[in-house]
Amino acid sequence: MAESYKIIDHRFDVVVVGAGGAGLRATLGMCAAGLKTACVTKVFPTRSHTVAAQGGIGAALGNMGDGDNWKNHFYDTIKGSDWLGDQDAIEYMCRNALPSVIELEHFGVPFSRTPEGKIYQRPFGGHTINQGESMAKRACAAADRTGHAILHTLYQQCLKHQAEFFVEYFALDLIMDEKGRCRGIIALCLDDGTIHRFQAHTVVLATGGYGRAFFSCTSAHTCTGDGNAMVLRAGLPLQDMEFIQFHPTGIYGSGCLITEGARGEGGYLTNSAGERFMERYAPNAKDLASRDVVSRAMTIEIHEGRGVGPHKDHIFLHLEHLDPKVLHERLPGISETAKIFAGVDVTKEPIPVIPTVHYNMGGIPTNYMAEVIKDSKGTVVPGLMAIGEAACVSVHGANRLGTNSLLDLVVFGRAAAHRARDLITPNMPHETLPTSAGEKAIERMDRIRNSNGPLKSGDIRLKMQRTMQKHCAVFRDEKHMQEGWEKIKEVHDSLKEIQINDKSLIWNSDLIESLELHNLLEQSLVTLASAVNRKESRGAHAREDHPDRDDAEWMKHTLCTLMGNKTNIDYRPVQMKTLTDEIDVIPPKKRVY
Ligand code: FUM
Repeated sequence: MAESYKIIDHRFDVVVVGAGGAGLRATLGMCAAGLKTACVTKVFPTRSHTVAAQGGIGAALGNMGDGDNWKNHFYDTIKGSDWLGDQDAIEYMCRNALPSVIELEHFGVPFSRTPEGKIYQRPFGGHTINQGESMAKRACAAADRTGHAILHTLYQQCLKHQAEFFVEYFALDLIMDEKGRCRGIIALCLDDGTIHRFQAHTVVLATGGYGRAFFSCTSAHTCTGDGNAMVLRAGLPLQDMEFIQFHPTGIYGSGCLITEGARGEGGYLTNSAGERFMERYAPNAKDLASRDVVSRAMTIEIHEGRGVGPHKDHIFLHLEHLDPKVLHERLPGISETAKIFAGVDVTKEPIPVIPTVHYNMGGIPTNYMAEVIKDSKGTVVPGLMAIGEAACVSVHGANRLGTNSLLDLVVFGRAAAHRARDLITPNMPHETLPTSAGEKAIERMDRIRNSNGPLKSGDIRLKMQRTMQKHCAVFRDEKHMQEGWEKIKEVHDSLKEIQINDKSLIWNSDLIESLELHNLLEQSLVTLASAVNRKESRGAHAREDHPDRDDAEWMKHTLCTLMGNKTNIDYRPVQMKTLTDEIDVIPPKKRVY
């Protein structure tokens, strides 16, 4: 082990990496089950990206008198996923949405209320009653700051349950043993440079998505998919990484999110002719079609010369016709964001918006109990779980419905705790770790820290982001993706020439950003390899050279591993089964809104 590091060993029943909604829900559940649990996080918990989630959490509570039930939600989620979602996991999520949201209410989440005092619910894209008969009101909302409300409440609940937090610790890698079991993680404490080896019976990765691989995204700068990259470095696959969600309404220029809840409350999109063009693309759902459909429609309008603004390169979102009281009560956050980032008073003028990278449907493959799986047979990796955006469970398939992300966080955070409770007895003895455990991770960090090449990490990052934005866009084809893949390989190789000026270990942001960049580049390689490989259009993967969905050949999950810059692709069957006989599998059909 390198001499210069002070290494501190810890033993826990469970180590959760990440303190967003999924990580906190899991931590809370583990602690409540009597398991000694550490939550290791690179940012203070209430700064995690869940805080930015706006419009609502999906649960068919039926509070608005629309007769909604979880079976509608099940159907909509499968259709939204373009039949790539695993139907057992989707049943689990939609059914458990109800107790999970009621539980949040009891934990203290300050949801907005109906006049009768029930949780307020608003319409959201792709959520319907009776397979598209009418729009459902299913998004349980705390104004337009739902993620903020949930994150703060979960953190308070974790404190109540005496969870142990390791705040501002950067997880470097998993500790795997020769039998393929995960035995813990190795992390760097950012404020004093000590190295921490956390041994655990189960590690839960709740490290979020990797939106920052792209130039324009709604994600926080911290969204670098660190857990995904740790999984790749452990020789394990990531699943369905080709599916990148573009949210239709990022603010033009800054990428800040304007919630879909704005359209749920009656907002609409127009082109340069002032036309409500979504009526042409989705005659029933219109502006509340699912996100891939709306983002494609906006992109076509812009490509065909009907964008707005001096460069005709964006679209208008109108809220000025809404009652100012509704804006004030239901959409206060985005009213403020529009003012700050677009200089727009939403009561008077439209917001300039553009489809912006928002969510990764792909990630670490898991079953519906949050256990990581590693192959086409669904073999579980002992000691490793993944939840939230880091995971691909896969409830979102090829396209996620709005509100199903917050739901995924709490349902599968809770599921991970239930599974851990079944597998682990509190304070069970640990097998001794080899003294070399984690050595490779430290060597990798050291290599980067001592690198004296000519390239600044910011320049490498910009090249990666521009390449991903251009070559892995809303519309794709073989030639552009292939070019992008070659460029990303070059950018990945250029990491060897990175220059780190600060060699210290105390708050070395240059080092941490470079480690994050390494993580992003590994995921970018896998994303482009998976996208080039899938020769069909499905959900968010819209190929101009293969415009149709091909169920005969491609109704299967991609599994992609990485060795150096070499990718390898395998597949996993979509789970076309349900958990109970209360509901039938929904066979694939044409997807129209
Ligand atoms: O539009 C939104 O409020 C985002 C929600 C989501 O991604 O689920």
